[in-house]
Amino acid sequence: MSTTSSGKSPASSGLEGVVVANTEMSDVDGQIGRLTVRGYDIEELAGRATFEEVTYLLWHGTLPTAEQLAQFGRELASYRQLPDETVAAIELAAKRMGPMDALRFAVASLTADDKDSDDDSREANLTRATMLVARVPVIIANYQRLRSGERPIAPHNDLGVAANYLYGLTGKEPQASEVRGLDTYLVTVADHGMNASTFTARVIGSTASDMVSAVTGAIGALKGPLHGGAPGPALTMIEEIGTPDRAEAWMKDALAKGKRIMGFGHRVYKVRDPRAEVLYQAAVELADETDEREALELAKAVEEAGVKVLQEAKPGRNLNTNVEFYTALLLRELGLSPDLFSPTFGIGRTAGWAAHILEHRAGGRIIRPQSEYVGPRDLHYVPVAER
Ligand code: COA
Repeated sequence: MSTTSSGKSPASSGLEGVVVANTEMSDVDGQIGRLTVRGYDIEELAGRATFEEVTYLLWHGTLPTAEQLAQFGRELASYRQLPDETVAAIELAAKRMGPMDALRFAVASLTADDKDSDDDSREANLTRATMLVARVPVIIANYQRLRSGERPIAPHNDLGVAANYLYGLTGKEPQASEVRGLDTYLVTVADHGMNASTFTARVIGSTASDMVSAVTGAIGALKGPLHGGAPGPALTMIEEIGTPDRAEAWMKDALAKGKRIMGFGHRVYKVRDPRAEVLYQAAVELADETDEREALELAKAVEEAGVKVLQEAKPGRNLNTNVEFYTALLLRELGLSPDLFSPTFGIGRTAGWAAHILEHRAGGRIIRPQSEYVGPRDLHYVPVAER
């Protein structure tokens, strides 16, 4: 293997191809488009398991029994009450911060009522993980209501995570089909190999810092449009295109202006992201109720045009639709505004972030890679007056 002049392995741009951890959480096979979560293909879980079941699976390695699931549901509900510090953070954030900034700001305050902050046992960290999965959706819903000039709604403790999130946004108990659609989404995005935000969470967790800090950092990583920030822009693109016949010309024009087509391309997948199909199917199931059939047909046409135009512009790159493309359609069907798509991604991924932190804390070392210094040496300090 080649080495640099200082004897190190050469840097891999974007850490492409570098394996940074062994994990039992999930595996992404980009050549055939297969996502395995704790032994299950994503198609086995999505549309069948609830978000709570898959969260439990990630944290414990097995699907819960009915009794374990009921107990987990009660634990989650018991954490929905937010500490005063978080309530205050959301009130401030709703005045002039965007949703991802608000989420990061409010989640950072969640250590406030951690009475055993020095306890780093798996049990204590599982409690923190449960607290985070329970509260992230409450934070987003309360923020959304406040910025719309409405009062937050007290959590409905008979409802699961997906249903209570929709209830918290609207004050209305959602239809079973809507809950199923959101559960499908949350399950589909719960974990996905060593993506950028999960890596961020693992790095922070590896220093033996606390789980709230790790999840706060991960939210910062998720915010970026190259990671979790793409579904809003993907929807804007579909809306701007408007009719199928305009798709190809719109894409070509965007590429000619040096823009990236949101919802396309992936570091690992060289074929269509399997989550795109799962979310497309979930969107189709809801389409009749939500009058979105036409929008889905348009999205299909945009997808086909995008793949074709990208294949011509970037031959050999295999740029296909990723998870974000149909996320946009599904979450719009559920009545979410586009700038809530990324925070809603954060609800699902909190389960995966917490799973990776728990896994790393169970025996992983501090993550501390190296860099290759490529700057000058032997410079001499010149006092400021002489420069
Ligand atoms: N639109 C246009 N060109 C794209 C593209 C897209 N969506 N995705 C990748 N490319 C091009 C790049 O311009 C680059 O071309 P070049 O080598 O001629 O400069 C090539 O394909 C490889 O891109 P690169 O950025 O090196 O790939 P990556 O693995 O580092 O990036 C993504 C992966 C996801 C960041 C990238 O595909 C992207 O920006 N997609 C759009 C944002 C998105 O949908 N993000 C959600 C991801 S789930």
